[in-house]
Amino acid sequence: MSENHVTDSSRMLHFILNGIAASFAVEPQETLLEVIRNRAYLTGTKKGCDLGECGACTVIMDGRAVNSCCIPALMAEGAEVITIEGIGTKERPHPLQQAFVDAGAIQCGFCTPGMILAAKALLDKNPSPSRGEIREAMSGNLCRCTGYTKIEEAVNMAAEAMRILKEKEQEDRAAQTAAGNAGEVCQNG
Ligand code: FES
Ligand code: FES
Repeated sequence: MSENHVTDSSRMLHFILNGIAASFAVEPQETLLEVIRNRAYLTGTKKGCDLGECGACTVIMDGRAVNSCCIPALMAEGAEVITIEGIGTKERPHPLQQAFVDAGAIQCGFCTPGMILAAKALLDKNPSPSRGEIREAMSGNLCRCTGYTKIEEAVNMAAEAMRILKEKEQEDRAAQTAAGNAGEVCQNG
């Protein structure tokens, strides 16, 4: 992925965007949000206040939820950045995306990509957060529509779904290993 609008002052930015190596010529004053939206054309990341106060522009950078409107793009050099487009598709939504739909936690949807990424950063580190921990992790993400209860409910539902998925993956892996071992015993025997 690369896009070049080179000027005398532009510098090359190289980073990993949704798992793909990306390079863009960027201006020193450009923010990560501007690069994501205007150069990578990933418009799921929203521009709200542009002041670091609403969380609409949240992305995950090197495992942490950050306000991309406050990150100078060149600070993302070498970083791994995940946007809402990188976590699921319409056909195969991430458990958080599914839970937000199922819990009715989306109204206008403007805050939703940022909410989901803030929640993902939380669940990646803490698969079983308390209600208080969910509220704390989402406190930088403002929603004008939902009243937050359904959002907390959605994160809770997704946490449970992700734990079940993980357990199932572990069971499948254990079953495959056991089947492999049994096969070896049969061959050796
Ligand atoms: Fe970045 Fe509001 S647009 S925090
Ligand atoms: Fe509208 Fe949150 S759903 S701002």
